[in-house]
Amino acid sequence: MVYVMKKVFGRRNILERIWKLLLNDSILFTAERRVGKTTVLDELNSAPKKGFIVIYSDLEKIDSPLEFINDVLNKTAPFISQKDKATGWFSKLWETLEGAEVGGVFKIPEHKEKDWKTLLLVTIDAICKNNNGDIVVFLWDELPYMLQKINEHEVARDGVENSSLQIMDTLRALRQEHANLRMVFTGSIGLHHVLNSITKETYVSAPINDMEKVELKPLDKEPAYEMVKFHLAKENKSSGVKRETMENIASQCDFIPFYIEKLIRRLSLYDKPVTQKLVDDEIAYILTDNSDDWELEHFRNRLSSYYKGEIADANNRKIKKSLIAKAILNHCAMVTTPQSIDQCYQSVKSDFSIDGRDLTIELLKNLVKDHYLQRDTKGNYQFYFSLIRRWWVLAEGLSEFSEVKSERYNDA
Ligand SMILES: Nc1ncnc2c1ncn2[C@@H]1O[C@H](COP(=O)(O)OP(=O)(O)OP(=O)(O)O)[C@@H](O)[C@H]1O
Ligand SMILES: [Mg+2]
Repeated sequence: MVYVMKKVFGRRNILERIWKLLLNDSILFTAERRVGKTTVLDELNSAPKKGFIVIYSDLEKIDSPLEFINDVLNKTAPFISQKDKATGWFSKLWETLEGAEVGGVFKIPEHKEKDWKTLLLVTIDAICKNNNGDIVVFLWDELPYMLQKINEHEVARDGVENSSLQIMDTLRALRQEHANLRMVFTGSIGLHHVLNSITKETYVSAPINDMEKVELKPLDKEPAYEMVKFHLAKENKSSGVKRETMENIASQCDFIPFYIEKLIRRLSLYDKPVTQKLVDDEIAYILTDNSDDWELEHFRNRLSSYYKGEIADANNRKIKKSLIAKAILNHCAMVTTPQSIDQCYQSVKSDFSIDGRDLTIELLKNLVKDHYLQRDTKGNYQFYFSLIRRWWVLAEGLSEFSEVKSERYNDA
């Protein structure tokens, strides 16, 4: 098999920024799903700067604290010398942990589970102290997902330990203790949602308030165009395609590499040249296709798990917050200009008889955190991604009554 290196576009600046930040800080790395977080972590991992030891792990499959420590050990092991493994600090650590190595995999026995916190402290302590003063960076992908799973398992067996929160607190304590320890947290679920549930909505930011927040944006125009050009050429489809059309592919995909790649793959399956019309038709098809190849339905489905809770309306009926969030999105999807808090609130009031200006503000803030909306410097809100907005209008069937609605908004 020929191994083709994956070509990464437009991430040089953010990589530089991350390396600089890592000299002093740990990082909470966020973005909407599929924007390219894992790709950036891969880049950090595959070419570490001098003076850094980079340990990458995808935590998606981990669902207990002990497994997490096992993973830390196994991902760190390749950086440890044979001598240290045989007679040095690692072998001593190993005695403490009562670990066993089977077929090259390190494993701490189950009966140690109850002491996991001490084990985590001892393990990371040993890793940080035993190198030449290098900065040790743990890149933890899908960390929120792991925390959520650990928590779910615990709740399912009526456990009260709240291990997920304890893991977060322990990691924070370790960051304070070791001057050469850094962590990068990322994942496709927003960490704030998981922290919300494991901290029972109190002190939500405490476990991460020492970390720098870095948001990964879609690609800039030029690298996105380069990416389109590259992928069309790879599919033997670039001849005769105008620059305008290529730029349009990038912008209709909101400069998100994942969608660009997918769209070009689909376009290349046609036995005809790539024209603007073909691009428009294909996107129109994707946005209405039941098989939902791009998993856009996810943006709607997750509302009920993201925005939990209810509020009583004027008739003392319970209204789900997720429905109010949806009403705000419906409103923003149909208007062409960014909307003020009061315009959004008016639209909520026209759908529900609630007195909820503060709730509207809270939801707007969260909709920004979850990358549905963006806020401009005047304080007004609009959809972050045009593709998602287009999908939303179609999926919610909004276009049919858009005229009626827009009249109402003009009056408001
Ligand atoms: N900068 C880039 N240049 C080229 N291709 C990219 C780039 N970033 C992402 N991709 C492509 O998009 C796909 C999705 O990116 P990636 O898995 O990094 O996103 P993610 O943000 O980690 O997604 P998720 O939220 O689902 O974990 C990758 O498999 C890759 O093919
Ligand atoms: Mg990822």
